[in-house]
Order: sequence, then structure tokens, then C-alpha cells
Amino acid sequence: METVEPKDRKNFLPFALPSIGEAEIAEVVDALRSGWVTTGPKVKRFEADFAEYLDAQHTIAVSSCTAGLHIALAALGIGPTDEVIVPTLTFCSTANVVVHLGARPILVDVQEDFNVVTKAIEAAITPRTKALIPIHYGGQACDLQEIYEMAAHYNLAVVEDAAHAVGATYQGHKIGSNTLQDVTRKPPTVTAFSFYATKNMTTGEGGLISTADDDLAEHMRLLALHGMSRDAWKRYTDAGSWYYEVVLAGYKNNMTDIQAALGIHQLRRLPGFIQTRQAYARLYDQAFAALAEIETPVTHPDRSHSYHLYVIRLNLERLTLDRAQFIEALKTRGIGSSVHFIPVHLQPFYRRHFGYRRGDLPQAEGLYERIISLPLYPRMTEADVQDVITAVTDIIARHRK
Ligand SMILES: Cc1ncc(COP(=O)(O)O)c(C=O)c1O
Repeated sequence: METVEPKDRKNFLPFALPSIGEAEIAEVVDALRSGWVTTGPKVKRFEADFAEYLDAQHTIAVSSCTAGLHIALAALGIGPTDEVIVPTLTFCSTANVVVHLGARPILVDVQEDFNVVTKAIEAAITPRTKALIPIHYGGQACDLQEIYEMAAHYNLAVVEDAAHAVGATYQGHKIGSNTLQDVTRKPPTVTAFSFYATKNMTTGEGGLISTADDDLAEHMRLLALHGMSRDAWKRYTDAGSWYYEVVLAGYKNNMTDIQAALGIHQLRRLPGFIQTRQAYARLYDQAFAALAEIETPVTHPDRSHSYHLYVIRLNLERLTLDRAQFIEALKTRGIGSSVHFIPVHLQPFYRRHFGYRRGDLPQAEGLYERIISLPLYPRMTEADVQDVITAVTDIIARHRK
């Protein structure tokens, strides 16, 4: 076995990089010069543009997807003694927000496409279950039809964690759109998107929640900014008044105009970003199809994948190195990669507070040992994609059993 791994690239290829253009930069400068650096007209414009893009009734820009999930659950009245079902193969914040409200996250298993097992949700339902948070892992929708049917049957609220899934579709309808009700028979309760730096579009940090429910939208808008009945923009313009009322003990989860300045232009470029991601994913699929040592992502014909992530699964029984060594071998060749995610139930806090143990959610644990997220973003060139393919192929050739 070869022990010295070759160094292929001169420059390290980071796992992820945003594509920020001149239009975004000029809009941020405009926000800075205008004096509106907090929530103001650019946030309003971004929300309106996003509502049109999604075909959504209400859109509320917030400081992060985590903040959006938090206020969605709070507006739905989730609190102590409630249980909320969350797939374990997610970022910790999906479960943390449940804990923040004093409720209990019930972590459930996932399947080979990395999305939640619908039957596992059903098995976890108890009289205390109030809501579930399906995530659209990597940018591919989970089985929304089954999930909404079950939620309707058991009278559960659904908050979709669409951190990865801006621009993804399910049976031809965008995640978070009103028209999804054609297949789910009722509009999505709340959908939360992330604009974190690595996501398909970015505002640096930021998020947005969409809903078709008027009352819920009003409630979430209040919760996003201290529970104040008028936001600063309404108070400080010539049409405004100094008077406001605090009608709820809300949070400080608003988006700023500096973030929205980025978002307005990132949203315009989003369809192109997704096309490039899909084209690069096809290059990976084709290059890896013949390799028995790895499996490419499982995709469903009724969904369009927005490819926030491209995650390969190693067939470890065919390899002489494990996942951590594979990542190191990629690094030596100048290729960054990552792991999405360490299952939440294996994290110390969740073991300590909720008694989870290794072995509780075996499919997620099995996947966790085998997964690597490869670089996939529009700022990569086709030559970069080829470098990743060459590195993966070469590592396999050297470490085949
Ligand atoms: C599945 C999932 N949910 C939620 C989040 C939180 O997003 P944000 O960083 O915008 O709060 C992330 C972020 O990486 C995520 O991957």
C-alpha cells in the first residue's frame, strides 16, 4: 500500500466559497451610504422579491435559519412538556431551538437518501408530540406528501428546515411555495431557509421564513423584533410615529439592510447558481458511476435537487482506509471536504440530557461513518471539479482492497 499521498494541486480548494459579485458589493455600499444599516427598505424589497420568487403568501427575513426555526416554533406555541420530532442527521440548531423553548427534541432515524424515515416519525409520535421538523437534506426534498398526510392525521404542525433547499422543488413546486398545497393538500405551515456563507445563496448570516398563514405570519413578525407592534422603519420614516407597544416578549432576530443588500442580488443569481451546481453534480455522478468503492447521492425523479451538498458514501468494506483517513488523503491532494453531519443524538449534550446512546439510531450512525461532502459551488471551475474527481479516483485506486 502506498503511504505517501501525492500533492496534486498548487492551491488548496476550500470545501465552500460564496460567489459575491460587484452588484452585491455596490448594494451593500448603497446601504452603508444611505444610513439605513438595520432593518429598512432593502429588507422589505428582499422579502417582496423572495415572496415572488417562491410564490409565497408571507416572507419574513430573519438573522439566521436558526432564528427562523426558533420563532416558528414559538409562534406555534411549542413549550415545556411538548415533544418535537427531528431527524438526527442534521445541524445541531434544528434540535437546539426545541431545547431553547423548554420542549424535548425526539430524534429519529434517516434513510439512504439522508432524509427522515417517515415511518420513524410515526413510531415516535406520543400524546405530547406537537410538531415535526423535517429537513430537506443537502437540497433534496424529503417525502412531503407522506409527511403532510401523517401530520394531518395526527394533527401535528410541520416546520420545514429548508436551510439547504432554497430553489429545490418537490413534484414541480418550490419548497416553501404556496402551490405545494396542490400535493400536500394544505399549505406548508412554516418553511425556514438559511443564507449562511456556504449555502446556495448567502447574506453572510441570514435566513427567511415563509408561510401562507396570515395569523402565524403576524405572530412571527412580532416575535422577530421584540414583540413590538411597529418596527424601526415604520417608526423613523416621515410616515412613522414614535409610539410602539410591546405585545409579546419577542426576540431580536431581524435581518439588517446590509444583509438584504447581498440577498437581493444573490436571489437574482440563484437560478444560475443552482444550474451550475446541478451540472457539476452530474460530472461527479458520471465520473464515480463505475466505482464500486463509493456510492453517489440517491436522487428521486419527482424532485429537483438544488445540490447544496454533494455527499458520497464510502463502501468501507472495499477500502483499506476509513472516512477520516479519506478526508486526510483529500486534504493532502489540496482538496477540502466536510461531513454533514455528526448525528445530533451522539453529541454530548444530547446524550447527557436526553439519554441517547450509540446504537439508538443505527441507520444514521452507519451513514455517518461513511459520508464525505465534496466541494460543490459555482465559484469552482470545471478544472477544479476535475481535480476533485482525479483525487477521489486516485485515493480509491491506491486503497482498494
Ligand atoms: C440543516 C440545517 N438546519 C439549520 C441550519 C442553521 O442555519 P443558520 O446558520 O442560518 O442558522 C443549518 C446550517 O448549516 C443546517 O445545515
